[in-house]
Amino acid sequence: MVQVENYRPLYHFTPKEGWMNDPNGMVYNNGTYHLFYQHNPDEPKWGPMHWGHATSTDLVHWEEQKIALYPDSLGTIFSGSAVIDKDNTAGFGKDAMVAIFTHHNHKEEDKRTGLHQYQSLAYSLDQGKTWEKYKGNPVLPNPGIWDFRDPKVMWHEKSQAWIMTLATKDCITFYSSKNLKEWKMESSFGKENGAHGGVWECPDLFPMTDNGVTKWILLVSINPGGPNGGSATQYFVGDFDGKHFTTDDTQIKWLDWGTDNYAGVTWNNVKDRHLFIGWMSNWQYANEVPTLKWRSASTIPRELSLTSINKQYYVASKPAKEIENAFKISKTIAPKKVNEILLSDHLPTGFQLDISKLKVQDFKIILFNKEGNELTVGYNKAKDQYFINRSESGNISFSHDFPKKHVAPRLSKESQVDMNVFFDVTSVEFFADNGLSVMTDIFFPDSPMTHLKISSNAPLEYQNIIISEYKK
Ligand code: FRU
Repeated sequence: MVQVENYRPLYHFTPKEGWMNDPNGMVYNNGTYHLFYQHNPDEPKWGPMHWGHATSTDLVHWEEQKIALYPDSLGTIFSGSAVIDKDNTAGFGKDAMVAIFTHHNHKEEDKRTGLHQYQSLAYSLDQGKTWEKYKGNPVLPNPGIWDFRDPKVMWHEKSQAWIMTLATKDCITFYSSKNLKEWKMESSFGKENGAHGGVWECPDLFPMTDNGVTKWILLVSINPGGPNGGSATQYFVGDFDGKHFTTDDTQIKWLDWGTDNYAGVTWNNVKDRHLFIGWMSNWQYANEVPTLKWRSASTIPRELSLTSINKQYYVASKPAKEIENAFKISKTIAPKKVNEILLSDHLPTGFQLDISKLKVQDFKIILFNKEGNELTVGYNKAKDQYFINRSESGNISFSHDFPKKHVAPRLSKESQVDMNVFFDVTSVEFFADNGLSVMTDIFFPDSPMTHLKISSNAPLEYQNIIISEYKK
């Protein structure tokens, strides 16, 4: 049996100890990326939520900081966001870092009335090192909605107001404010749109531009009801005028078709970039995965972009260039017209596989070890679907929802596939066709995966295959 500590990834953020779920309060300031996260420091299980804190200057190396927000008399600290208040609209100080989060009250009487979640503020005047809770909390009391949480706040230039995008059970409610303290309800969206197999959580709203056309993207995480079971993130492409969000989307769109990218949102205060990180797990089994001291990792940072196919807009996800630059080429496999190629029999612990211009044909990329564990990433031409199969990937016994094959439609119509796959001890993230089809899955092999091969039912035709090793 593998030592559980060996499950810790090399280039994905994990808390040193304890539990982590959603990324929170992601904000960039003075050369530092801040990543806060849902955290239970006392146990590697979901419990009384705090905001953990990590910082990075390059989006690759993360330094865990002191816990930012502790539970208080109003409740534990659920998900939310952070902004830099450049104009001191809230009066906490110029350039204050302000966190807008959900207080979750466990008191029985509040649970009975359904008023147990409300939005509150905290601020930091020293770059996120120390925090004060606002004395007037909560700033947005509960109007009688059981699931009333996960505020994502942004500055809306046109209306010169802060906009809060809030998950309210089975829809999103938008609020506006001039000072972060008083909020006015503007509209709600979504009762008639998108997937509704579970509760809506952790939304995000931001504009993106493709060829001079600007669209507003609304991300909505949903649990359960994901396309391959459990939690997943859907999105809507539409317009937002400062009050209302509208969409032409009738098709349900998923940001990532794997089972392990949830509750992700984008960084605030980064100009012209849409940097995203998700929680790399799924509520179906997050509390059961076989790590001991800590539980859960974040996804790699991704850059989102707007792209269109046949007049339909989609959000593509690509690895952020910072993470791309953290790898060096260790092997190049020139074209060989054979049905199977052993790509490596001594894999680095963390690596990236790049396949360029692979003819659209059935293929399987198989990661394996001497125990006979296998993790397969592939494409099925008849179904026009990508897939990840982790049903024989090692330790699968902790949840009957875990050992499965997951599928994703191929959206691209190109005759060649480009595959960019990141492996890191216990995770696989692939970005096919320039990030149009994306899947993220975790797995727990009985010993490290050492071998990699690619196979097909016909001779493989490609331009190049490259294995790159994580540089540390
Ligand atoms: C999403 C979520 C959020 C909530 C947090 C609690 O994974 O359920 O809606 O704020 O986790 O930890």
